[in-house]
Amino acid sequence: MLICVPEVLSKADVGDFRRIMDGCAWEDGRLTAGAQSALVKSNEQLPPDSEVARKLGNRIVSALTANPRFLSAAIPLHIFPPLFNRYVASDGHHFGVHVDNAVRGDRLTGLRIRTDLSVTLFLSEPDEYDGGELVIEDLYGSHEIKLPAGHLVLYPASSLHLVTPVTRGVRVASFFWLQSIIRDAQARSLIFDLDTAIQALVERLGRDDPETVKLSGIYHNLIRHWAEM
Ligand code: NI
Repeated sequence: MLICVPEVLSKADVGDFRRIMDGCAWEDGRLTAGAQSALVKSNEQLPPDSEVARKLGNRIVSALTANPRFLSAAIPLHIFPPLFNRYVASDGHHFGVHVDNAVRGDRLTGLRIRTDLSVTLFLSEPDEYDGGELVIEDLYGSHEIKLPAGHLVLYPASSLHLVTPVTRGVRVASFFWLQSIIRDAQARSLIFDLDTAIQALVERLGRDDPETVKLSGIYHNLIRHWAEM
């Protein structure tokens, strides 16, 4: 399931991120790629262990942990420190079809996670560049994603995906992974749908409606049933 989460960062925050990132030294994106993806990866990234990447990454994680839609969809256990990349048209940057590594380790914190979900947070507006679509394959076919700056997409890390060549301008994004408390994608999807329906009922009937209270109990009991921590 692909889930878009709008307005994770404000336009002011995006502008601030971009100003800071413009002043940074970028390195070859293949330095963090796995063996297969290194063959098809052509982009640049901020050095993952740099102070600036960590500071910006922490701001993203803070925004995520205050975002109800993100929390409901991802039910995160561990969020990997966000990374930052850019695709520059004049360098012909793109990222061919690949699957993300199943396990990621962070050198600085020692954190190791199973990558259940991949996240791309867009930091360029769609009219700043041509191409650069994130294409994600799932059971229902292939989906092209290009979101406004500050919005993100969550997708199963197990899916084949690619970034089409950027043919004009620069595409800047943050990307990272997370391990969910709910490992099974189907179960996580059911819990998200249930939560979305409960929130709509709460709007209509109030938080103290007896059936809404029962459904909220079922929601928590399903998490309890499926949680792996
Ligand atoms: Ni990837």
